[in-house]
Amino acid sequence: MENYRNKVVIITGACGGIGEAIAEKFADAGATLALCDIRQDELSQTAEKCRQAGATVHSNAIDVADEAPVRGFCETVAQTFGTIDCLINTVGIVDCPGDVEELSLSMWDRTIAVNLTSAFLMAKYSVPYIKQRGGAILNIASVSGLANQEDATIYSVTKAGLLSLTRSEAIDLAKYGIRANAISPGSVETPLLEAAVDQAAQLFNRTRDEQWQVWRSQYPTQRFTSPQEIAELALFLCSERATNITGANFVIDGGLTALLPER
Ligand SMILES: NC(=O)c1ccc[n+]([C@@H]2O[C@H](COP(=O)([O-])OP(=O)(O)OC[C@H]3O[C@@H](n4cnc5c(N)ncnc54)[C@H](O)[C@@H]3O)[C@@H](O)[C@H]2O)c1
Repeated sequence: MENYRNKVVIITGACGGIGEAIAEKFADAGATLALCDIRQDELSQTAEKCRQAGATVHSNAIDVADEAPVRGFCETVAQTFGTIDCLINTVGIVDCPGDVEELSLSMWDRTIAVNLTSAFLMAKYSVPYIKQRGGAILNIASVSGLANQEDATIYSVTKAGLLSLTRSEAIDLAKYGIRANAISPGSVETPLLEAAVDQAAQLFNRTRDEQWQVWRSQYPTQRFTSPQEIAELALFLCSERATNITGANFVIDGGLTALLPER
C-alpha cells in the first residue's frame, strides 16, 4: 500500500463517481487533501467522508473552467498546507451530444472549457508549488480520446486534447521532477455513466435496460469498471513506486479498445 503521509493532493471533480473514489483512496493512504467541485453540498459530504477516514481536508466549490477561482484555490491550498505534491484532474462533462452540424458553438466552447481548459488552468496554477519538491499530475481522460463514437464529437475532441496535454506536461515538466500521466477508462459505474446511458437510450430508441445490456455486451470482460479500480491505479501512478512512469496513458476498459467488431 502506498504511503501519502505529508503529501498534499488536489482532486478536481472530487464528489463525482471517480473523483470521490480517488479522494477516499488517497485519504486511506494518509494524504492531505484539497478537493474542489462545482457542487457545494455534495463536495461537503465527500470532504466529511475523507475527514472521517482521518484525512486533513480543504475543500472549495469552484468552477474549474474559470481562471480566477482556480488560481485562488491553488494559492489557498499552498498557503494552508505549505505546498502541493499531486494534481488529479477528474472533472468532465459528457452531456454534449451532436455531430458538427448539430453542435452549438456555446456547447463546443463550454465542453472545451470544462473538460480541457480546466486541466490546463489547474496545472498552470499548481505547478509553481509542485515544482518545489517534485510530484505528479494525473489527468482522467477516456477511451473516447483514442477512438470516436457517433454523435459524440466534442467529448472525444476534449479527451484527445487531454491526452496531448498530458504528453506535453510530461516532456516540459520532467526537469522539475514532475511526472504527468493519464488514465483512459471505458465505461465506469458512476452518475456520469447513468446520464450517458439515458442519452444513448433516447438516441437509439431503446429502453434503459436494453441500452445497459448493449453496452455491457461490447466489453470482452462483459462488465464495466468500478470507480475503485480507477482509484487503485491513480494511487500507484502518483506514488514513489512509479517514478519513471511519465507521459503515459493507461487504458482500463475491460478489453473494449482491443476488440475489432464482428464482420
Ligand atoms: N463514468 C464513465 O463511464 C467515464 C468513462 C471514461 C471517462 N470518464 C471521465 O472520468 C471523469 C470523471 O467522471 P465521473 O464518471 O466520475 O463523472 P461525474 O459526473 O460523476 O463527476 C464529474 C464531477 O465533475 C464536477 N464538475 C462538472 N463540471 C465542473 C466544473 N465546471 N467545475 C468543477 N467541477 C465540475 C461534477 O459536479 C462532478 O462531481 C470525467 O472526466 C469523465 O469524462 C468517465
